[in-house]
Formats: sequence, C-alpha cells, structure tokens
Amino acid sequence: MGRFDDYTADLLRNADIQRLARRGAHHFSINRLEHSLAAAKLSYVTARLLNADARVCARAGVLHDWFFENRDEHQNRAGANIHHYKISAANARGIGESEAVIQAIETHMWLYVRGKPRTKEAWILWMADNIVWLTDGAWSLARFFKKRVNNFMYGSMTRQEPNAS
Ligand SMILES: [Fe+2]
Ligand SMILES: [Fe+2]
Repeated sequence: MGRFDDYTADLLRNADIQRLARRGAHHFSINRLEHSLAAAKLSYVTARLLNADARVCARAGVLHDWFFENRDEHQNRAGANIHHYKISAANARGIGESEAVIQAIETHMWLYVRGKPRTKEAWILWMADNIVWLTDGAWSLARFFKKRVNNFMYGSMTRQEPNAS
C-alpha cells in the first residue's frame, strides 16, 4: 500500500485525527479511526480498479467521519450524530482539502440524509463506508451468536488443556 501511505501520511500525523482512535465502537466493534482507515483503503483500491482519483478517495476515506460527539444539537434520539457529514466536511475544508474530497465527504450519508453522491469518487466512498460498517456489523453479530451458542451448549464448563509435562 505504498501509494496509499503517501496519500494519507500527513493526515495520520494530525493529532486531532488520531484522537478518532479513542472513539470506540464507531458502529459496532471497531473504533472510529479503524473504521475510517478501512473505508479509506477500500475506497483507494476501488478507485484504482475503476480509474477514479485514488488520492481523493483515500483522503476522503480518512476524513469522512472526522467528528466528535460534543455538540448536543447534532444528536438524534439514537445518539447518532446525524449532521456529522457537515462537521467532517468543515474539518476537511479547514486543513485545505480539495473540493473533490469535500464533496465525497458531504454525500457519504446518502439514503440516511439527503444528497446523492455526484462524482465517481463520492460513489466509491459511499459504497466503501457502507461495506465497512455492514461488515463490522456482520462480524459482531456472528461473534454474539457464537458466544450465546457456546454458553448454551457448554455453560460454565472450562476446557482443560492437557498438561504438557
Ligand atoms: Fe459517517
Ligand atoms: Fe463512516
């Protein structure tokens, strides 16, 4: 991922972006920085396959959820921040990102809020973001059921490892 690193290294040195790692369970199990990086990598690879701007996709991926829940007016009843695409876009604009990156960030919540992606790169980010959170959800659900099934079948039995000596 040499080029991916070149495209995103400066962003990952930003202390405020690193702070996203402290936002645990962004959707289900992974933190917000892990989620953003996964979306960025998937966007980058897809962009290269589809001849889109891989740099725009990589950067928009890292930045698309650059927000913190510290503004109550943005919370909906589920506690989700329904305006975070605006906050993330404003943060990206603040560090001088291109309009192409801003546009992709602004439409990454399409279907949940209004505003359809308008560029190839924006569509790629939209798809990558959804795949990443759905995958996280699917793994989390699988782990949940595995635990339930194990508890049901084996209860509190602890497996004894054979003694090596
Ligand atoms: Fe988001
Ligand atoms: Fe996201």
